[in-house]
Amino acid sequence: MNFYVMTLFPEMVSLGLNTSIIGRAKENGLLNIEAVNIRDFTLDKHKRVDDYPYGGGAGMLMAVEPVLRTYDHIMDKIKATSNEGFKKPRVVYVTPWGHKFTQETAKEFAREENLIFLCGHYEGIDERALDAVATDFYSIGDYVLTGGELPAMVMIDAISRLIPGVLNNSDSAVYESFSEGLLEHPQYTRPEDYNGMKVPEVLLSGHHANIEKWKKEESVKRTMKYRPDLLK
Ligand code: ADE
Repeated sequence: MNFYVMTLFPEMVSLGLNTSIIGRAKENGLLNIEAVNIRDFTLDKHKRVDDYPYGGGAGMLMAVEPVLRTYDHIMDKIKATSNEGFKKPRVVYVTPWGHKFTQETAKEFAREENLIFLCGHYEGIDERALDAVATDFYSIGDYVLTGGELPAMVMIDAISRLIPGVLNNSDSAVYESFSEGLLEHPQYTRPEDYNGMKVPEVLLSGHHANIEKWKKEESVKRTMKYRPDLLK
């Protein structure tokens, strides 16, 4: 899967997604993440990418031209590398006013071959740029961050781990929080007894059915306590 991130801070994205599981998946060729600097595509001689909003208002807006030229560059690249079956990729604008990004959204996006993220900064982006290229609008939660890079990275991480082969143990993408509408049960590793803090007996029993029952009950308890809304 190929991710393209349109951003004013490409190093933030590439460094942030270069370690651990995602870094390994990139090395193994399972995914490719390319952060493209919008500033490289401005025609302004001072390399400006923002301007004042018409009608007044706080802050600056990212201008149309650099965004659309960045998009054209990415599209040329995708077209050049795809065979006959070229499909226009989805372009996700990350914004606090978008739909809420969930595990279901991650699953849906994990089926795409190419995915483009557009990260805003300052007060946002000229609406004409969004009209021209954005197909999807997503938020990671009801709070406002300083830019779209962290949300885009969050979404890329959540999508990437669903791509077959990215996680070592394919089971771990199945039994986890949200996968069955429940939160994950508590988990334990060695030692059995740490300064008197013991691992629940049932997990040591080897009784498969009892263990599964315990896990399910603990999942329900945790969901009732922390996310009762999921049970409705
Ligand atoms: N940009 C700023 N805040 C955001 C959020 N919560 N989700 C997505 N994009 C954002």
